[in-house]
Amino acid sequence: MSGVIHGLDGIVVTETRLSRVDGEAGRLTIGGFAVEELAPRAAYEEVLFLLWNDRLPTADELAELRACLESRRAVSEEALRLVVTAAVRRVHPMDALRMGAAAMSLSDRDPRATSRAANLERALDLVAAFPTLVAAYWRALLGEAPIAPDPRLGHAANYLYMLTGEAPSAAEVRALETYLNTVIDHGMNASTFAARVIVSTRSDMTSAIVGAVGALKGPLHGGAPGPALDMVLEIQQRSLRSGRDLAVEARAWADETIAAGERIMGFGHRIYRVRDPRAEVLGDAASLLFDDSADRVLYEDARIVETEILAALERAKPGRRIQTNVEFYTALLLHGIGLDAELFSPTFAVGRVGGWTAHVLEQIDEDRLIRPRAAYIGVFDRPWIPLESR
Ligand code: ACO
Repeated sequence: MSGVIHGLDGIVVTETRLSRVDGEAGRLTIGGFAVEELAPRAAYEEVLFLLWNDRLPTADELAELRACLESRRAVSEEALRLVVTAAVRRVHPMDALRMGAAAMSLSDRDPRATSRAANLERALDLVAAFPTLVAAYWRALLGEAPIAPDPRLGHAANYLYMLTGEAPSAAEVRALETYLNTVIDHGMNASTFAARVIVSTRSDMTSAIVGAVGALKGPLHGGAPGPALDMVLEIQQRSLRSGRDLAVEARAWADETIAAGERIMGFGHRIYRVRDPRAEVLGDAASLLFDDSADRVLYEDARIVETEILAALERAKPGRRIQTNVEFYTALLLHGIGLDAELFSPTFAVGRVGGWTAHVLEQIDEDRLIRPRAAYIGVFDRPWIPLESR
């Protein structure tokens, strides 16, 4: 129907200083920095401070934010019990995180408060709690007890520690920081928009973040990296079984998949018409991480698979410019750090919650209800038919 912009394609709904996505040039700017400049260097807490305050922290400010987050890592018993129960019942990890996030209202210091300051408190609680909730879920999935946070470790390192019980290597921590920073914010993506819509009604930070987790769960948004890794592993297996060259096998697999009308996870993007710059940053980080690892062959194979899939997409959808997106290298990098595929989407949320909270604060400042319209395509003036006559 004319006048309808399906999927709100190209519609600008607000102003933000948090991030800018230039899909034609393949440029992502986060808080004024090119993602390539910021993500591989900063600690996650630094980028969080940047988004909340529009500048990098001094050493004292960083130490203060770290201490503040550290003091809020432990979650309430009820929240912990919820995510553990979810794991025992094999509930999806993003559903577990959504329930755990919702339970944060139980420990809200001032549950009825609506001020910006009260919502900033909630933001600190949520950012600090996400790794704890995900790690507790994961431990319960393995049949293990949760591991208490280690106050000596930073946000990213402590997350890895709570997952495994082992102190992570410096390379693993760097790789995870780079990942969390790379995905912390990305323009008006679906989950961020969902969060802004919710808080635009003068609802609260926790409600907005719970809604955002629900939006991120879907495979067209944050649910793609698990299947992307499975795809590379499956093509490797097929090549081993058939004895055919990996590139030949990847080409055949991609052609079959596209011909069957299926989407290939880790490729395509609503905004990017060139390679997603985050794929570049994460590809470099993965290359560094895999440098000395026995898994180096997986990294090399993934590059071959990527090349063949891009060629197959161009053959099948010429001129559509479907390119590698962030999820393809997310899968490789997080696998390299040692995370199971079950943890990929919730780890995305551990990073993105920083951006969501910053957007919610921006929306609170803007204080404008987001309320688009729909074109009605139903009929008019139906006569009422009593139940016994239908
Ligand atoms: N595999 C196969 N075909 C694809 C793919 C893909 N990955 N992506 C797009 N196409 C095709 C579509 O089938 C469509 O073809 P058609 O017009 O002949 O039917 C055409 O390209 C355009 O597709 P749209 O759905 O209009 O593109 P849109 O901009 O809505 O899609 C999306 C973006 C949803 C990300 C899509 O590319 C996709 O499904 N990718 C796979 C899932 C994925 O990787 N998601 C993570 C995205 S990154 C993030 O959110 C963090």
